[in-house]
Amino acid sequence: MITEEFSVARRLAELPPYLFVEIDRKRREAAARGIDIISLSIGDPDIPTPAPIIRALARAARDPVNHRYPESEGLDRFRQAVADWYRRRFGVDLDPQREVLTLIGAKEGIGHLPLALVDPGDVVLIPDPAYPVYRAGTIFAGGQPYEMPLLRENQFLPDLEAIPESVRQRARLMFINYPNNPTGAVAPIEFYREVVDFARRHNIIVAQDNTYSEISFDGYHPPSFLEAPGAKEVGIEFHSLSKTFNMTGWRIAFAVGRAEVIEALRKIKSNLDSGAFQAVQEAGITALSMAEQISARNSNVYQRRRDVLVRGLRAIGLTVDVPRATFYVWPRVPAGYDSAGFVSTLIERAGIVCTPGNGFGKQGEGYVRFALTAETKRLREAISRLSTALA
Ligand SMILES: Cc1ncc(COP(=O)(O)O)c(C=O)c1O
Repeated sequence: MITEEFSVARRLAELPPYLFVEIDRKRREAAARGIDIISLSIGDPDIPTPAPIIRALARAARDPVNHRYPESEGLDRFRQAVADWYRRRFGVDLDPQREVLTLIGAKEGIGHLPLALVDPGDVVLIPDPAYPVYRAGTIFAGGQPYEMPLLRENQFLPDLEAIPESVRQRARLMFINYPNNPTGAVAPIEFYREVVDFARRHNIIVAQDNTYSEISFDGYHPPSFLEAPGAKEVGIEFHSLSKTFNMTGWRIAFAVGRAEVIEALRKIKSNLDSGAFQAVQEAGITALSMAEQISARNSNVYQRRRDVLVRGLRAIGLTVDVPRATFYVWPRVPAGYDSAGFVSTLIERAGIVCTPGNGFGKQGEGYVRFALTAETKRLREAISRLSTALA
């Protein structure tokens, strides 16, 4: 028998190792031993998509107009609904034709953006810790990631002045993400002003990921990057319907901002995908028209869960900040543990699955991430098991 030698492209080998394989194995082992698993690891809402959105999809799915290839930039009507929502929510004006682009999930847009802007060898500034797709997209485009540490003593905001001059000169693109996954940190508008100034001085395009802007607590409403004066000249912002409307499975999101960047991303997309299913965009229009109501309801649910989990973790003695947005809680691991060790202990001794902080980058070491995607009853159970396991 002849076995052909097989190898994948170098860019795949360059991706960081997949840390979750071992956790998944431990989770399955624990489940096989009959342990009731409380899963708080994945940022996927457990709340169903609201009924009016589902009805809008069903209606649109019956219309043959929607059975054909969509335009890659998205339906005019959907992009108009995005512009209307931006005006209402952030006071930002957008031209729906030139400054709004429909995406098949924010992940798709984030992953494709470096292909549109980055040449091999260009530097891309990415946060550490971070949602892993900023790095993957950079590597796939042949770019070089440069990590900007997000430290607790800086409220998990990057220190732009600490970026060396030589890096600034080679940097083409900067990803930022507030409200932040995984830390739960938020950014004040002053930080966005600083970013605009930095980007202008160094001719860097900014991509701010506002995926979690509509899950927020205690009356706080996160701003848009585009509210900062001049932001629309330096960059774009990603939004997703995934978390706001409990629609992760539907694959619908959008990018807004500087027209040339939007056009460059559209060009990549028109060569690689054929746009989002129009019926899903129709349902997205319904979703956006109800945004205020739905996000208030969701945020109330997550705020109650946040309070239960944060209070419980603090009572056990863990150091943890109270997040003002996102559905993530980011405690430090107790003394004597590293991130991976703490996660393993939680699975084995308490049947709780969370995500090790180092899975999001070097600076995540020493933290774990809990997603508030289980009911308060389960969170109380998790705290009670945790306190027994650590006693
Ligand atoms: C920071 C961040 N950006 C983007 C996404 C992707 O969202 P979408 O479902 O729209 O692809 C996620 C999903 O977890 C995320 O955490």
